[in-house]
Amino acid sequence: MSAADAIEPVAALVARRTGLVFPESRREALASAVANAIERTKARTAAELVALLDAVPDALDHLVSELTVHESYFFRYPGQFELLRRTVLPEILRRRGPDHRLRLLSVGCAGGEEPYSLAILLDQENLSRSLVTGADISRPTLARAKAATFGRWSLRGTSEDFLSTYFRREGDRYQLIPSIRDRVSFTYLNLADDFFRQGLPGRFDVIFCRNALIYFDAAAIAAAAGRILSALDEGGWVFTAASDPPLSAHAPFATVMTEEGLLYRRLEGTAREEAAQPSGPIAEPLAPPPLLPPARPRRPVAVREPAPPASAPPGLAARVRELADAGNVAEALAAAEAASRLTPDSAELHYLRAVLLSEAGRDRDAADVLRRVLYLDGQLAVAALALGLVLRRLGDRTGSKRALIRARSLAAARPAGEQLPLADGEVSGRFLLTVDAQLRLLTGGKA
Ligand SMILES: C[S@@+](CC[C@H](N)C(=O)[O-])C[C@H]1O[C@@H](n2cnc3c(N)ncnc32)[C@H](O)[C@@H]1O
Repeated sequence: MSAADAIEPVAALVARRTGLVFPESRREALASAVANAIERTKARTAAELVALLDAVPDALDHLVSELTVHESYFFRYPGQFELLRRTVLPEILRRRGPDHRLRLLSVGCAGGEEPYSLAILLDQENLSRSLVTGADISRPTLARAKAATFGRWSLRGTSEDFLSTYFRREGDRYQLIPSIRDRVSFTYLNLADDFFRQGLPGRFDVIFCRNALIYFDAAAIAAAAGRILSALDEGGWVFTAASDPPLSAHAPFATVMTEEGLLYRRLEGTAREEAAQPSGPIAEPLAPPPLLPPARPRRPVAVREPAPPASAPPGLAARVRELADAGNVAEALAAAEAASRLTPDSAELHYLRAVLLSEAGRDRDAADVLRRVLYLDGQLAVAALALGLVLRRLGDRTGSKRALIRARSLAAARPAGEQLPLADGEVSGRFLLTVDAQLRLLTGGKA
C-alpha cells in the first residue's frame, strides 16, 4: 500500500475522531504523517491502517500529534490577559464573592505556555487558591507541558525581570518554579468528544480555547462550541483568538464586544434578566453588551418604538444578522454594504455594517460608519457606545470619552427598565452600568 491510497480514509477517520480537517495547504503534512503511521503500524492495507488507528489509542495519538500545531508562548495576546486581570476576574469575584475558588481551563493548551501564564497571572493577583487545568489532545505535548521547561522562543516578549521571578535558568532552557508549576494540572481532552465522559473535572469560570478550532470543520466547530458552553459555569467567560471561528454561531452564548475582540459568556435563565436590574444579585457587568446578536436560539431583537430612520426595510437587516449568526462575517458585511447602498438612510443597516467592520478588524472604517449612524439617528445609545470602544482601540481617548458620555446621557434619558433600540434587548439600567465601567477603564478608575 502506498501512503496515497490511505490519505482519504485516514483523513475521514481523523475528522470523525478529532474534528481536524485538511485543506489543500495541509495535505502534504497529512501525507507525511500517514506515511509515518504506515511505517510504525506495518499495516498492509488502507482499511487495516484505519482499523488500527481507530482501535489503538496510542496509534491515533501519535498520528494526531504529528498533525497538530503546538505553537504557543507565554502571555500570547497580552491584551486578553489584561482583560482577564482587570475586568473578567473582578467581575467573577464580585458576583461569586471574594472567597470563590476560581477555576480556569486552557483547552488546546499545547506545551503549557497558556495555562502557566494563567497561573502566573493568578499569582500576581494573589489569587493562588484558584485551580488551573491545561487540556490537550496530544499526549506527548501534555508530557512536555508537565515538565514545565521552556526555550527562549516560548518566552519571547517577556522581560528579564519576569524570567528571574518565575524561572530558573538551566543552560539555554528555563524551568518554571515549582510553586507555579504545581498549581496547574493537565488532562487529556479531545474537543471532538464529550468533555464530561472524558473525565473533565467540573465546570469552569473561564475557558481559554485559542487557536485549537482553526482546523476544524463546521460540524466539529458546532459540536465543540456546545461542549465548551456546557463546561462553563453560569456567568462564565470564554476567550478565543481573533482567527478562531465564531462560537456564537453554534451555541447560545452571549457575545461581548471588548477592546480585545469578542468574548463569549454563558448567561442563562435568570442570570440575564437579573443582570438587567442594577440592584439584582448579579454584580455590575464590566463588559459592554453584545453588539452582535447572540446566536441561535435567538431571542427576537426587542426594539421598542424604533425611531423611523433607524429601522431597516424588513428582510434586509434580518438577512445580515442571519449571516452574522452563522459566522459568515465577510458575507454578512457584503450584505450589509449592499443593503445600506439600497437604503442609505437606514441607521440600523449602517450600525450592523459598523459592527461587522469592527469584527473584521477595520476599526477606522467602523468609526466613520458609526459617526454616520449617529448623524442619521442621534438617539442610538448603542452606536455611541460602539463608537467609544472603537475610538479607544484606535488610541483616540478624548473622542472615546466623548462618545461614551454621549452613550451615557442617551441611555440615562430613558427609564431603567426600557429596552434600548438595536441593543438586542439590553435595558437602559444595565447599559448604563456598562458604559460607566467602560468610562472607568478609560480614565483609570477616575470616572
Ligand atoms: C496552536 S496550539 C494553541 C496553543 C494555545 N492555546 C495558544 O493559543 O497559544 C493548538 C493546540 O490545540 C490542540 N488540539 C488540536 N485538536 C484538538 C482537539 N480535537 N482537542 C483538543 N486539543 C486539540 C493541539 O494539540 C495543539 O496543542
